[in-house]
Amino acid sequence: MNVLLAGGAGYIGSHTCVELIEAGHSVVVADNYSNSCPEAIARVEEITGASVKLYEADVCDPGAVEKIFSENDIDAVIHFAGLKAVGESCEKPLLYYRNNIDSTLTLLEAMKRHNVTRFIFSSSATVYGTPKEVPLVETMPTGTPTNPYGWTKLMMEQILTDTQRANPGMSIVILRYFNPIGAHKSGRIGEDPNGIPNNLMPFITQVAAGRLPQLGIFGDDYPTRDGTGVRDYIHVVDLAKGHVKAIDYSADHTGAEIVNLGTGTGYSVLEIVKAFERVNNIKIPYVIKPRRAGDIAECFANAEKAEKVLGWKAELGMDEMCYDSWNWQSHNLNGYK
Ligand code: NAD
Ligand code: UFG
Repeated sequence: MNVLLAGGAGYIGSHTCVELIEAGHSVVVADNYSNSCPEAIARVEEITGASVKLYEADVCDPGAVEKIFSENDIDAVIHFAGLKAVGESCEKPLLYYRNNIDSTLTLLEAMKRHNVTRFIFSSSATVYGTPKEVPLVETMPTGTPTNPYGWTKLMMEQILTDTQRANPGMSIVILRYFNPIGAHKSGRIGEDPNGIPNNLMPFITQVAAGRLPQLGIFGDDYPTRDGTGVRDYIHVVDLAKGHVKAIDYSADHTGAEIVNLGTGTGYSVLEIVKAFERVNNIKIPYVIKPRRAGDIAECFANAEKAEKVLGWKAELGMDEMCYDSWNWQSHNLNGYK
């Protein structure tokens, strides 16, 4: 299978490249490097020993996307190419709506012209809004996102569902990711955020590396077991394998299917800090700060549908997530730079 990965040089995309290649697929990557660099793909080639066809392209640009579809026999598309910083999306909503929605429309239009019918989409648990109960099941109503980033995901789920309904031969798999952390076991690819990280694990690894003095824990008064926020952290390699399963599934499937990719287990911020300290034997200094605006107390998946429909289940645990995150960061103190 020849799979186009839009945004394939990014964190989840680069890990998915490796897993697809190792499962025997060919990959074509299109990325504008707005949040990544070509070095990530050079390292994918190093890990797999395969060559990756790489386009520096903005997938909102119809001409650039047309060129990719004309030059390659694409069987399926995985769309990772989105802007994802929640805070920035509040400051620059138009940038987020333009980039995230336009990229989806441009890819879908090119697919229609070239009779490509299989589309896998990176959605997010953020579409559930503030959960009324956990674990979150795909059939639960979506909530009200608290930021423009979340709205783009919800809007794109609607666009994709409508597009599939009008094109019944299409297979659309909407994957709702929970919280990906960790890195490839080689330590050669991993998460490389620009500036000060927004997300918990990259913040912890940068404290461990001495790049940041201490972790701020956003609130210890949530109604959770230790008062800190609970999330469903999933190893990025497990997440990447979920995409391989979704690609296989889409071969004999038509319809629009929404699937959670999570482990089904929630960990608190303090539990993550303690696990990281134990596994890596590094102290993480922290202070308790006020709650972060827009945060929810608890969010974890019911992961049964992924197992039933895709035959996929997360296999790696919190110790591997902490070990692999630090293995990547400690061997790449400044990321890919
Ligand atoms: P990332 O920023 O590392 O990867 C996204 C990639 O897309 C980057 O390489 C970026 O340069 C590229 N890109 C963005 N806009 C583009 C455009 N118009 N044209 C071409 N390339 C473009 O992020 P990630 O963590 O790998 O996330 C991948 C997808 O998964 C995103 O859509 C994100 O919203 C979604 N997601 C991520 C998380 C998470 O916690 N990491 C959680 C839920 C959903
Ligand atoms: N946290 C801290 N300190 C930090 C960073 C995070 O205490 O410096 C806490 C948060 O308050 C939260 C937990 O760690 O309780 C996880 O926070 P992240 O920022 O790592 O992740 P979120 O669950 O807030 O959001 C992530 C992605 C979103 C996505 C969402 C659901 O960033 O894009 O998961 O998939 F929408």
